[in-house]
Amino acid sequence: MPQNIYDDPEFFAGYDRMRTHGISLPETLEQPAIRSLLTNVQNKRVLDMGCGAGVMSNWLVEQGAENVLGVDVSIRMLEKARENPHPRIEYRQIAAEDLEFPDGSFDLVVSSLMFHYVEGLKSLLGKARRWLTGGGMLVFSTEHPIFTAAQGLYPDPWIKDEDGNNLAWKVDSYASEGQRVSRWFVDGVVRYHRTLATLINWLIEVGFRVTRLLEPHAVVEAERQHPVLLGERKRPAFLFVAAEAAL
Ligand SMILES: C[S@@+](CC[C@H](N)C(=O)[O-])C[C@H]1O[C@@H](n2cnc3c(N)ncnc32)[C@H](O)[C@@H]1O
Repeated sequence: MPQNIYDDPEFFAGYDRMRTHGISLPETLEQPAIRSLLTNVQNKRVLDMGCGAGVMSNWLVEQGAENVLGVDVSIRMLEKARENPHPRIEYRQIAAEDLEFPDGSFDLVVSSLMFHYVEGLKSLLGKARRWLTGGGMLVFSTEHPIFTAAQGLYPDPWIKDEDGNNLAWKVDSYASEGQRVSRWFVDGVVRYHRTLATLINWLIEVGFRVTRLLEPHAVVEAERQHPVLLGERKRPAFLFVAAEAAL
C-alpha cells in the first residue's frame, strides 16, 4: 500500500499554499518543461498518473486530447480536480500500482512528479509499456536523482553561507538506492531514490526507446521576476523523460 501523504490535512494545506501562492517550482519550471515534451496530443487517449488537482489533465484536453483518465491515490487532490470538470476527463481514485488495463488502451501515458513516490517503479513502467499502443509515448517528470540522493540524511541538503544563503547542494549516498524519508510540510514523507542509470535502464529493459531527457532550470521570465529562482541552476530539481513504446 503506497503512502498517501497528500491526504494528510497539514501536508495538503502546505502543498496547496505552495501551488497557489508565492513562487511554485511546478508552475515556473516543471509544467513548462513537461509541456514542451508534449507536442502532439491531438486525438490521443491519455492516462495521467498522479493527476493531482488536474492541471495537466485539463491542459491535455485543451490541446486536443480525445480523452484523459486522471488517476490519483489522494481524495483531497481529486476533490480539487473535480471542482473543474471537463466532459472528456474522467478522474478515478486509485493507487497507480493497482491499475489494470487491456494492452494498447492508451496512445500517451503522462506522469507529472509522481514516480519518486512509487516503490515498485520498474513494474509500473512495464505495465505502462503494455497499456500503450506500439509507437505510443510515455512522458514523465520525477524528482531528479541528484535531488533525491541526500533527502532525509540532513535537515536541509543545502550547504549555506553564514547569512543563510544556499551555496551548494549536498549529493550523498547517491549509489545507495531505496527509501528516503524526509520532512516536507510534515515529517515522514516517503520517496524512493534511484540512480539515473537505473531509471533509464529500467525504461530500456521494459521496452521503451528513450527519445529525450531534460534537466531544466526555471523559465527565464520567472527568474527575472524572482531572482531566488536562479538558485535552481545549482542543481537539477527534476528530470524529464520522453520515451516511445518500441514496436
Ligand atoms: C507532486 S503531486 C503532482 C500532481 C500533478 N501531477 C501536478 O503536476 O499538478 C504528486 C501526486 O501524485 C499522487 N501520488 C503519489 N503516489 C501515488 C501513487 N502511488 N498512485 C497514485 N497517485 C499517487 C499524489 O497524491 C499527488 O497528487
